Amino acid sequence: MRLTVAKLLKTGKKNQEITLKGWVRTFRANRFIALNDGSTINNMQCVVDFENTDESLLKRITTGAAIAVKGILIESQGKGQLLEIKVSHLEILGDSNADQYPIQPKKHSFEFLRENAHLRIRTSTFSAVMRLRSALSFAVHKYFTENGFYNFHAPIITGSDAEGAGEMFAVTNLNLENLPKDEDKKIDYSQDFFGKQTNLTVSGQLEAETYAMGLGKVYTFGPTFRAEKSNTTRHLAEFWMIEPEVAFCDLDGNMDLAEDFIQEVIRYILINCKDDLAFLDQRLTKEESTKPTIERSAMSLLKKLQFVTENSFKRVSYTEAITILRNCKPNKKKKFQYIIDKWGVDLQSEHERFLVEKHFKCPVILFDYPANIKAFYMRMNEDGKTVRAMDVLFPGIGEIVGGSQREERLEVLKEKMKALDIDEKELWWYLDTRKFGTAVHSGFGLGFERLVLFTTGMSNIRDVIPYPRSPQNADF
Ligand code: 4AD
Ligand code: MG
Repeated sequence: MRLTVAKLLKTGKKNQEITLKGWVRTFRANRFIALNDGSTINNMQCVVDFENTDESLLKRITTGAAIAVKGILIESQGKGQLLEIKVSHLEILGDSNADQYPIQPKKHSFEFLRENAHLRIRTSTFSAVMRLRSALSFAVHKYFTENGFYNFHAPIITGSDAEGAGEMFAVTNLNLENLPKDEDKKIDYSQDFFGKQTNLTVSGQLEAETYAMGLGKVYTFGPTFRAEKSNTTRHLAEFWMIEPEVAFCDLDGNMDLAEDFIQEVIRYILINCKDDLAFLDQRLTKEESTKPTIERSAMSLLKKLQFVTENSFKRVSYTEAITILRNCKPNKKKKFQYIIDKWGVDLQSEHERFLVEKHFKCPVILFDYPANIKAFYMRMNEDGKTVRAMDVLFPGIGEIVGGSQREERLEVLKEKMKALDIDEKELWWYLDTRKFGTAVHSGFGLGFERLVLFTTGMSNIRDVIPYPRSPQNADF
């Protein structure tokens, strides 16, 4: 296997002869190459003896070029690194065409890098973010596997829009130029590939529930699609969602799970991704220092991550939250875009962030929401007005998790569906779980990119997924 910088920094022995391959980050004084191979945020300093090196070769050592170096690993003579390579042989594997290469050793705006999403992975920031994304993904599977959950692959093409979680993308192989019509001049989906109308999934929850009723504890981790025209820094049209579903678990157990899960995956990266986190911590601190003092975050990235793992999330009912919000300064002074004037209204991200960032100053779990602003499957409380819903709210993010205890009582569920005009026939299989051995159960959905956003300190969700899909944008 090819030797990597990461491996070398861990186990490399001095005076050993080695070969490394990677890309030139910078080339200073015709002598010092900072080589990066993606295995770590750290570059390996490669020192060339320019007196004995062909000048035409030196000219080709430019930012972005792919090179192979052979040499001896020695203790570094300079500051900033412990080890360096005294190069005896250098080969250019691929020229970078420096006059055209968009990624230069200077600060590029994230907008510019989004337009060059195929090359941005060669910057320190994006490589750190994407290595963290990968580590978090591993930590998610590790957490659930170690806690007795089975990974469930939910279907991506679905035949029902029952969840009502958002606008859907249609899946069809009908000829769009010449759609077949039925007698009522409506599109005849019986002639479509699946013989019915189908869409990309907005959530694997309903299917995961059926599996939880057999395997006990399951989780999905897959692509999710929503065709909302939400052009925000928190929304994507294609994102990855993690959805655990647990039999014999009530809302309290669900809140415990969400909290423990988030804390544990963050602990994992704090232990295993120190270099990337240290880099992102510094990046954010630098960025924050350009902001006016009142807008600056009170904690550095690392402090924030530690804080989340060390403090329990504050659990607050929707009703309590409404009281706090009605009486808070920004509401009274009409600083909120949406004024909170009565119980029952849906909370906007400005309210969620006020609760987390200004009022409680810690992650918050809101629970027991009004039934009519939540999905049909959430369990009705005794009061007949609220359901056993929960949202986990995070600083800088707002909602990171949405979940609930599910309505396990067949008659109550049927009644709810009737009231909302949801066709029982379409969800016959879902209702069967309530007919055959129904049980209390709960689950939630965590937007993976929102977790990556929080843990990397980035501010736009389009910068934490390799190729973001959003309204008017599906390049690459
Ligand atoms: O709150 P949501 O819509 O919940 C569900 O879909 C449930 N079926 C989950 C469940 O109980 N199994 O979405 C869950 C989470 C949100 O809290 C948010 O983190 C993320 O998914 N999310 C998005 N992330 C990025 N872009 C979008 N457009 C998102 N919509 C939701
Ligand atoms: Mg939600």
